[in-house]
Amino acid sequence: MRRMKLASETTPACAGSTREEFRSCEPLPNLARFLTSEHHRIHLVGVAGSGMSGLAGLLIELGHAVSGSDKATTTETDRLQRLGLRFCAQHRPEHADAAELIVFSSAIKDNNPVLVAARDCGKPLFRRAEAVAAIMQAKRGIVVAGMHGKTTTSAMTAHVLRGGGLHPSHYVGAEIPILGTNAHWDPRGEYFVVEGDESDGTLRCFHPEHTLILNIEEEHLDFYADLAAIEKVFAQLIDQTSGTVLYNVDDSNTARLCSKHKRAVSYGFSEQAHYRGVEVELRHFGSSFSVYRRGEKLGQATLNVPGEHNVHNALGVIALASELSIPFDKITASLPKFEHARRRFEIKYASDQFLLVDDYAHHPTEIRATISTARSIGRRRLVTLFQPHRFSRTKAMSLEFGSAFDDANRVVITDVYPASETPIPGISGRTIADEITRHGHRGVSYQPRLEWVHRDAGNMLESGDLLLSLGAGNIHEQLEILAGDLVIAEKLKGIVGEKGEVRLYEPLSKHTTLRVGGPAQFWVEPRSEQAFAQLIRFCRDEHLPLFAIGRGSNLLVRDGGIRGVVVRPCGGDFEKIELEGCEITAGAGVKLRQVAYTARAASLGGLEWMEGIPGAVGGALRMNAGAMSAQTFENVTRVRYLDFEGNPHMKNRDELEVFYRRFPLLETNFAISATFRAQPADRAEIDSRLRESQEKRRTTQPIAKSAGCIFKNPASIPAGKLVDELGLKNSRVGNARVSQVHGNFIVNDGGATAAEILQLIDNIKCAARKNRGVELETEVEIVGESE
Ligand code: EPU
Repeated sequence: MRRMKLASETTPACAGSTREEFRSCEPLPNLARFLTSEHHRIHLVGVAGSGMSGLAGLLIELGHAVSGSDKATTTETDRLQRLGLRFCAQHRPEHADAAELIVFSSAIKDNNPVLVAARDCGKPLFRRAEAVAAIMQAKRGIVVAGMHGKTTTSAMTAHVLRGGGLHPSHYVGAEIPILGTNAHWDPRGEYFVVEGDESDGTLRCFHPEHTLILNIEEEHLDFYADLAAIEKVFAQLIDQTSGTVLYNVDDSNTARLCSKHKRAVSYGFSEQAHYRGVEVELRHFGSSFSVYRRGEKLGQATLNVPGEHNVHNALGVIALASELSIPFDKITASLPKFEHARRRFEIKYASDQFLLVDDYAHHPTEIRATISTARSIGRRRLVTLFQPHRFSRTKAMSLEFGSAFDDANRVVITDVYPASETPIPGISGRTIADEITRHGHRGVSYQPRLEWVHRDAGNMLESGDLLLSLGAGNIHEQLEILAGDLVIAEKLKGIVGEKGEVRLYEPLSKHTTLRVGGPAQFWVEPRSEQAFAQLIRFCRDEHLPLFAIGRGSNLLVRDGGIRGVVVRPCGGDFEKIELEGCEITAGAGVKLRQVAYTARAASLGGLEWMEGIPGAVGGALRMNAGAMSAQTFENVTRVRYLDFEGNPHMKNRDELEVFYRRFPLLETNFAISATFRAQPADRAEIDSRLRESQEKRRTTQPIAKSAGCIFKNPASIPAGKLVDELGLKNSRVGNARVSQVHGNFIVNDGGATAAEILQLIDNIKCAARKNRGVELETEVEIVGESE
């Protein structure tokens, strides 16, 4: 290969830290020729990033042999590989040997093996922006710059120029469905539209013909000392613009800097704007407005992207396109067809009940604008999820973040997405959550575990809500999980109807007497046998696990919760109780205590023991629950149940196989109701037995949160007595403790986890085995997933 001397070899741009003040900003004529008129082997370090993947696409289209390394694989790297990118999921020194030139992302650390090797062997190294700026020299460059809205506006510019028949090339910071890809080289056209990145000073590399400036304010304070330092970079870009500077006159910083340029054209809402928008009408997902040029009406424009800020962005595009002599009617024909870039008010789920929207906003100004757009859509409540981006921004702007969420009803803040930064001690998502609370907001919660954010959000959703995820990191993945589950949740709601209940990620700690347990992915309460049957069939067809729960009195749910549907038959058919002669038929959701008192009211005896069981009929059947030396199936005459295909069956007692604390039929089928037989008895006799049961419970069992007896009684000794004799009463793991009152009860002293209870169970089992040779078996049902 012909060895050429590139400008950056004499003034290395990459010396020292990659975040340091950018120095090499001279035009790079050799690099421009190298990249746009010749074909070479080029390696991109950090190729999966949104900016780098666009550059990779351009270089491939320009005919280079492009390789790239990144620790992340994305759909973009997959797509580029199909176009010819040689991708490696590791950064290796040999990548530098094989390439003639290396381009690196500003997220890449200085000690990256490819950069180190490239420096050692003297390979030319360039920053991403230097490469893009050099490519721009082959065309008539248009840079769209500003703190907020530049991806949307640069994409809209490319779209409108396309509609005007100019065949522009483009390079923007996100996937743009309407443009096809985030970057494209079109040899037919003269223009190259580039989204400028102000975050690291590299805007100075660009020498465009035209520049469109949207807004300038304090941002990226990890890189810039203050606003003055930011303005310096913008001022240089403006100086280096050979043609027209189009600027937002409504933004004071922008107006101050740009109006001095020899060919400055302003746009905005204010009267002095050269291109002015008036009579703005915002609709749910769009807007319409009139456009005036220097006082003369050009006509009417329509947008199908929401929010006033987008009207503003469109005015900039209209001004630019008009200055390029695209007729107004061509511009307004293209604008309504413009669709959002990914992650810019992107609708992830829409139904009558719920609207889920994701947005990239991560600066307080952007958050305010996006929340205001979301509000204008007119849904009942606005629930917002926010993942702060970068520790430095979180620290520098915590005050501004504090007031950015005023118009959201509920806010969930998760932890900081670091984006290549190392943590700053004392700075986390809590910094912002606290600031919002201090500002007077009452609906803020902090969820440091990102993977749980969808659960918190899903569980707080109410019909009519708009759920908005905000942030430049990966918070959108949580919204996507939720959107997937909402599809199922709405189908489930269709099955159980108006009267039934469906909740997402319902904490099972609310539904177990032990008060522990992670969430149920789908919590469903059917009210009729027919809805229950349909639910069973739906779960079978969708391969969704289905678990039936009663009053959760004999249940230990692990902290990871239960995947699939947790069904609780209650209300409606399931709480019916009928008396016929000496028989009581009760639905699966009827409390056993209620069966006991219904019998008493009819002067029927033999069911008094049920008074002391905190569960419902379904659960009592399932485990053949018992007390006072009695057990459920001694009183049962018939059971009605649904099989795993939702078909109903009725079986008499003599057809049922039952064991101590076990009824196998309900391990794969679902109880609907049971008929209990009682005997006529004297009311006083019944009352005395009820009192005896109450007294026994009161004197021998704890009143604290528990799941009743933890272990089945072994043949040799009652489990409670054994635990007592082993001296394990009051032993504890965390907040789980063996009851002082009864050795077979584990109580939750408040905030215990399932893991702690399981550990305590294990300790007891080990001691019983080791010291007494007794193998204890749990009576309580243990279900769900560990965390
Ligand atoms: N005992 C001790 N120390 C203790 C606990 C019990 O020495 O800490 C002794 C008692 O003095 C008694 C014997 O152990 O001599 C049995 O105790 P208890 O009478 O309390 O009965 P249990 O077998 O422990 C059973 C049921 C309970 C039910 C009661 C009352 C089982 C596993 N447990 O307990 O059911 O409430 O009888 O009738 O069959 C449940 O299933 O969740 C449950 C609480």
